[in-house]
Amino acid sequence: MTTTAPDRTSAEEERTAPAAGGAKDGDPFDEDVLPAPKGASRALLRSLLAPARGRVRLAALVMLLQQAAVQAGPLLVAFAIDRAVPAARRDDYGPLIAVGTAYLVSALAAGLLQYAFVRLSARIGQNVLLDLRGRIFRHAQSLSVDFHERYTSGRLISRATTDVESIRELINDGLQELIGVCLAVVYISATLLYLDWGIGAVAVLSFVPLQLLMRSYRRRAHEVYRERSTAIASVIVKFTETMNGIRPVQAFRRERANEAHFSELNDRHRHANTRALLEMARYVFLSRLVANVVLAAVVLWGAYRVAGDGLELGVLAAGVLYLRRLYDPLDQLAMFLNSYQSAAASLEKIAGLLAQRPGVPEPAEPRALPERRAGLPGREVVFEGVRFAYRTGGEVLPRFDLTLGAGQTVAVVGSTGAGKSTLAKLLARFYDPTEGRVLLDGVPLDALAVPELRRGVVMVTQEAFLFSGTVAENIAIGRPGATREEIEQAAKAIGAHDFITALPDGYDTDVRKRGGRISAGQRQLVAFARALLADPAVLILDEATSSLDIPGEQAVQRAMATVLHGRTAVVIAHRLSTVEIADRVLVMADGRVVEDGSPAELTGGTGRFADLHRAWRDSLA
Ligand SMILES: Nc1ncnc2c1ncn2[C@@H]1O[C@H](COP(=O)(O)OP(=O)(O)OP(=O)(O)O)[C@@H](O)[C@H]1O
Ligand SMILES: [Mg+2]
Repeated sequence: MTTTAPDRTSAEEERTAPAAGGAKDGDPFDEDVLPAPKGASRALLRSLLAPARGRVRLAALVMLLQQAAVQAGPLLVAFAIDRAVPAARRDDYGPLIAVGTAYLVSALAAGLLQYAFVRLSARIGQNVLLDLRGRIFRHAQSLSVDFHERYTSGRLISRATTDVESIRELINDGLQELIGVCLAVVYISATLLYLDWGIGAVAVLSFVPLQLLMRSYRRRAHEVYRERSTAIASVIVKFTETMNGIRPVQAFRRERANEAHFSELNDRHRHANTRALLEMARYVFLSRLVANVVLAAVVLWGAYRVAGDGLELGVLAAGVLYLRRLYDPLDQLAMFLNSYQSAAASLEKIAGLLAQRPGVPEPAEPRALPERRAGLPGREVVFEGVRFAYRTGGEVLPRFDLTLGAGQTVAVVGSTGAGKSTLAKLLARFYDPTEGRVLLDGVPLDALAVPELRRGVVMVTQEAFLFSGTVAENIAIGRPGATREEIEQAAKAIGAHDFITALPDGYDTDVRKRGGRISAGQRQLVAFARALLADPAVLILDEATSSLDIPGEQAVQRAMATVLHGRTAVVIAHRLSTVEIADRVLVMADGRVVEDGSPAELTGGTGRFADLHRAWRDSLA
């Protein structure tokens, strides 16, 4: 007793610690379970099983027959002892042969039906698993950047693996246990009552304490299992976070600190596991105790009655066999409760995830963009009374009004954190403004169908992400269905053709395979080629030239000029040489435009940009 008390408090501290940390801003994303409408878990389960309705019914029928076959055993034993053996003593072997045959047949039938059930439930389980994993993937993919910034990929992975798996396990093994045990209880109670009222009544009454034990176990285990699944999820999150950031981890020698944190999380999982096992052991011990006491009492009482000719021996034997069968699955039932509980927790988490709506919803009735006006390249962009704050944090853009003429190349500069990338992300509609709107040729972005928006506005960032596949495929993402010629043309225009043809397999080099590794600057060139091929009306480059080498400056300028030609462009760059090709420069500070003019005007002026520019010139000299 004295040892369990401190244990529990330390577990409680561990459990509340992360919650307390996150409670500051009350972000539900600090919890593993996202809020979902009431009954969402059940509705999800129903929708998962709906396509298998016929199979589920068939499985239930098979189970019903299987239990009938299984539970016939002791009844046949009773018949053999009390009827067939006495008949055989009188040289009448008919009943013995009949009962032997019946026993064999029922055993065979039980086996075959069991096989059929396993096959059916495996099919159901596999289909649910596939369906659910697909739904999680599709849904997560459709959710906005805003969601993914808060819900880590580690969490998504544990939803799509451990959680899905625990639901499948429940359907495959758990349900068999549950249905089996429930049916057994009904069959056995009925048979016992039929055979002998006394023994039947004892069996039925023994359910009362057993049921109480089960309920107490369920209550206690629920909490432990929740803790356990949260703990394993945080182990996975830590794992993926570390491996995703392996470069900074090693560069800053974070290994030790990470290891310490990881083993702490691991330990929390172990602790929760131990508690779960202890709860289970306690339950198994108590329920067996009750079962064995009842059995002993029945044997004693039954023997006394058999001696006094009040009970047939065969009936007592069958009664004892049945009672054993009744109590044996109790351990399994506890196991089932465990898998039920972890599946319920998983279902809750998945339902919460699936209930998330995209932060930037598709319009119900999308509007089309007007025809791109001939002679006027690009499209006009208007920020109209835009205010914006990220969900976690203060206002980044306080009331922002800006018009970018069609075809203009606008450079945006400003100190770090000024809100340049935020402006870009609003224009690409990764987020919606908190207030006001962003218009493209007069049409609000949130009124555009997503495909049209993505065709119209393309953003290239510093990361220049490459997908697994060949270089050519990576460029073709800009315009699916592009011919090899178009792909090569785009690469040539950007100045990427030479390095690509020098790769082991040229354009067919797999970027994720050995030899296909390309540098950060080359990745940016591929991203440029992709953007050029996409030919959007509005192009945003957010630090997209940061990895291109200075000696290649001329080449970079040419590449930029090619990409920007004939469209509205927003270029965010720290490098001032890129600014010189712009028609217009915006200097941002604290979410506001503080200077606005042509490069020549600003350079010749006395503002921040002039200072910056002078410093830059000096550094080159
Ligand atoms: N996902 C986010 N969630 C919450 N706050 C954010 C997020 N992204 C940026 N911010 C905040 O918004 C402000 C503007 O950030 P932004 O990325 O727009 O700056 P920036 O001008 O692009 O800076 P840099 O030159 O460093 O790229 C910063 O104070 C930053 O902390
Ligand atoms: Mg930025």
